[in-house]
Amino acid sequence: MRPILVTSALPYANGSIHLGHLVEYTQTDIWVRFHKLRGRTCYYFCADDTHGTPIMIRARNEGITPEELVARMHIEHKTDFKDFLIGFDHYHSTNSEENRLLSEEVYRANRRAGHIHTANIMQAYCPQDGMFLPDRFIRGTCPSCGAPDQYGDACESCSATYSPLDLTAARCSLCGTAPVERESEHFFFNLNHFEPFLRQWTSSGALQIQMANKLAEWFEAGLKAWDISRDGPYFGFEIPDAPGKFFYVWLDAPIGYMAASLHYFKRHDIDFDQFWRQPDAAEIYHFIGKDILYFHTLFWPAMLQGAGFRTPTGVFAHGFLTVNGQKMSKSRGTFITARHYLDHLDGEYLRYYYATKLSKGVDDIDLNLDDFILRVNSDLVGKCVNLASRTAGFIHKHFQGRLSSAYPEDQGLFQLFLTESKTIAQLYQEREFAKAMRSIMALADRANRFVEERAPWTQAKENRLEELQQTCSVALNLFWLLMMQLHPVLPAMAEKTRLFLNLDDMNWVDTPQPLVGVTIQPFRPMIQRVDPKKVQAMLESSQGSVPVAATVTPPRPLPPPSPAPEPAASASITMDTFMAVDLRVAKVVQAETVPGADKLLRLLLDVGPLGPRTVLAGIRSAYTPESLIGRLVVMVFNLAPRKMKFGVSEGMVLAAGDGSGHLALLAVDANAQPGMRVK
Ligand code: MSP
Ligand code: ZN
Repeated sequence: MRPILVTSALPYANGSIHLGHLVEYTQTDIWVRFHKLRGRTCYYFCADDTHGTPIMIRARNEGITPEELVARMHIEHKTDFKDFLIGFDHYHSTNSEENRLLSEEVYRANRRAGHIHTANIMQAYCPQDGMFLPDRFIRGTCPSCGAPDQYGDACESCSATYSPLDLTAARCSLCGTAPVERESEHFFFNLNHFEPFLRQWTSSGALQIQMANKLAEWFEAGLKAWDISRDGPYFGFEIPDAPGKFFYVWLDAPIGYMAASLHYFKRHDIDFDQFWRQPDAAEIYHFIGKDILYFHTLFWPAMLQGAGFRTPTGVFAHGFLTVNGQKMSKSRGTFITARHYLDHLDGEYLRYYYATKLSKGVDDIDLNLDDFILRVNSDLVGKCVNLASRTAGFIHKHFQGRLSSAYPEDQGLFQLFLTESKTIAQLYQEREFAKAMRSIMALADRANRFVEERAPWTQAKENRLEELQQTCSVALNLFWLLMMQLHPVLPAMAEKTRLFLNLDDMNWVDTPQPLVGVTIQPFRPMIQRVDPKKVQAMLESSQGSVPVAATVTPPRPLPPPSPAPEPAASASITMDTFMAVDLRVAKVVQAETVPGADKLLRLLLDVGPLGPRTVLAGIRSAYTPESLIGRLVVMVFNLAPRKMKFGVSEGMVLAAGDGSGHLALLAVDANAQPGMRVK
């Protein structure tokens, strides 16, 4: 069988991994592990997606280089993935030499073949920052409905889309200066050259049916040339023979898949060309979220085709994660990072829960936390671990840990499990994980019924020892088969099972021989029940920890009538996490009430050389505007701007609070200067 190369989308290096991302990495990892356990040669690659303006700006705000930021996030991401048992063969970075060379090669080959042209375009430019501004870094009044403070590409109030140059009273969101129009030469990839090829590729079975339909709409709308260049300053790769011009991040990002594999293949003496140049020597699959379909099913195959590389065998899109039926939300505490989760809960719970929800379709999937607790406890603990826990003790107590020396009569269950195993393998292969989990749990039910019918506890009491050993031997054999089938989802539990049963491996073979006459280890539970208190604690820690009362989040629902209890001490964080918060001294230069918002004050803050900032602070209950003017405060400077009903807030001022409206701003000694970093 041909080897397979599998990828997940490359997470952006400017944010932490969260439970939404993990839908994708879990789905891919299960599929990869399945293939490996079945003996197929399979490689799983991923990388950090490091380039682009947001990363450059974030690094600048933190006072570090983009390379330093990227290095820090690389460690964070890798650790998160490892702790969720995501088994990449290699996790690379798009800011790597392999990626630079491959990006240049893909570009040069396309240019030689006539698929690239240049054209001059007009763009918004900030004279203060000396850079062209991406749409998201411009704000102004919507030309269509007049809503203030809208992003440069679309209005969140009336949903109009437009060019940033059409905004009224536009300003640079970094420094507040009005941008000017400036002409610049850009490089374009002629996507339309590839229409016949793409139509054929799309209908070759590489895509899910819903996705192929989506593409049909895009063909209908017509394929436009794709702007693949950006002007410096830009954190990315400079375009060959074009000083000051850089590849747009989405050009080099998917090439990162190739770069990750190249890095690995070189070190393992594997032929890169077999995977990326020969048309049928291997299979290539990309797992992605449905939001990045256009890039993976139009630009990416076209770029590969244009440069003489092979195209992917399949692109598998999945839906988006909701938590308790709603979009993940910071204020509800449901924007849960991988680390917040791991601080409280076992990664395998989530892997299993996602498996019970995943299909080959693109429907969104919901993490309902009550259901999560019930599912994991009832299936993994109640049905699987229980099978071993209620039988292993007898084997040790009466038989020195030895199973029966011949496989006993078992109502045909061992055979049934093997027959079902084929169907279950097929379901894994088709990414129908939810169906596979249902089939496996139905088998677990059968095994538990067997134990209940034979009632080993009665057999023990009545001293029917041979029967007792037989019952328990059957149960433990069936437990072994179940864990073999669950192995792609629960690698750590499978490993504990391997040790418990003294096995060499837990690979998923078609015709395993029953375990007879072997000695097993004393039983220790492979997983604990989910403790609902820990789920609660995770939500609380995700909600962000007090004492920062003057937040920029929209006013919460009315506080409870009695004074809120003292907030509990928060979970500990690393020095790195703390240092990532850029705290600055700021001086209040203007302060005013906000019509319609009885909790807010709008503050204009002088942050010294870092420029002015507008912050909406929920401190009106405790301060009059006049009392604040001229005061030095501490602000969180690198908080992503937040659009609120009353305008955009570009940070947060720190205050202590007890949750009931009593507030005290943090003061700074008078010898501090606006812009100084607080450490
Ligand atoms: N950097 C790009 C991908 C480049 S691939 C050459 C990107 N990064 S991302 O960090 O925003 O997302 C990484 C993957 O996680 C994407 O496939 C995205 O669809 C997926 N998800 C991000 N948030 C998600 C949910 N809330 N739910 C499910 N998947 C989500 O896009
Ligand atoms: Zn600016």
